Amino acid sequence: MILVTGSTGNVGANVVRQLLDAGEKVRVMTRNPSDRSFPDGVEVVPGDLTRPETLPEALSGIERAFLFPVFTGVDGFLDAARQAGLQHVVLLSSSSVTYSTPGLIGEQHLRLERAVEASGLPWTFVRPDAFMTNDLSWAPQIINGGVVHGVYGDAALAPVDPRDIAAVAVRALLDERAGEAYLLTGPQSLTQVERVRIIGETIGRPLRFEEVPREQFREQLLRHGMPAPVADELIDGFAARDGRTAEISPAVEEVTGRPAFTYAQWAAHRAAAFDPALA
Ligand SMILES: NC(=O)c1ccc[n+]([C@@H]2O[C@H](COP(=O)([O-])OP(=O)(O)OC[C@H]3O[C@@H](n4cnc5c(N)ncnc54)[C@H](OP(=O)(O)O)[C@@H]3O)[C@@H](O)[C@H]2O)c1
Repeated sequence: MILVTGSTGNVGANVVRQLLDAGEKVRVMTRNPSDRSFPDGVEVVPGDLTRPETLPEALSGIERAFLFPVFTGVDGFLDAARQAGLQHVVLLSSSSVTYSTPGLIGEQHLRLERAVEASGLPWTFVRPDAFMTNDLSWAPQIINGGVVHGVYGDAALAPVDPRDIAAVAVRALLDERAGEAYLLTGPQSLTQVERVRIIGETIGRPLRFEEVPREQFREQLLRHGMPAPVADELIDGFAARDGRTAEISPAVEEVTGRPAFTYAQWAAHRAAAFDPALA
């Protein structure tokens, strides 16, 4: 039996589906079992990674686990996992741990990786770059006017589809790829301007990216609840990538044996989010 935490998230929900497709027995953990729906055939348990007392039940009888990165309380999970005899943990981490200056978010992910390493449990680290699903935050602006406002439109990323992140995590779980760390990107370096254009081509509407002053964009992020230091780190990250090509990792294809999804494929998959008429 495999435990999937973060099972309602962009990555975790795909891990669940892909494990079921592979014929595995899956238990999902969520903080709110009554509010969530899961595919038929999964066992659902309540649990919270920040509340260690909820974890022994979730881990009982589990051989392998997909661990979502919650930045507090990981030692409780790791203690309960050792006691339950867990044989392998696959941690969702971040590409930021590989940066020369990991920053606030990278440091938090590094702390998690170090705790998992120190636990003595066999581990695999899945280190994705920016998720394609981050661009779903553009959906309201695309639906209401077709103009995406932001900063550093020529900043390039190689965003990765969460279905691919999940596919690598699933291979790591099923092939027991202990001791490996996979840096994951999508297959193309794309600027924000290019990604907006691809979404427009996908939904059949001309869209454009419009620059706004840095301070205005920062205020927008803060209004949506982003802590100020994280907003500053995000904007500085865009500035550092402005006009530069993002590096591509071959890991998705190497691990899964098939090419990573392109941005256009992802946009087609999520088209209804950008144009409800396509639902
Ligand atoms: N977005 C990026 O570009 C990026 C890049 C690299 C790494 N990452 C990492 O990936 C994470 C996001 O992954 P995602 O998009 O798949 O997640 P998501 O869609 O934001 O979903 C969050 C998941 O975490 C679970 N969760 C949250 N707090 C929890 C807790 N205390 N105990 C147990 N489960 C908890 C939620 O489960 P319930 O609500 O059902 O309990 C939900 O399934 C980020 O937080 C970051 O660490 C993101």
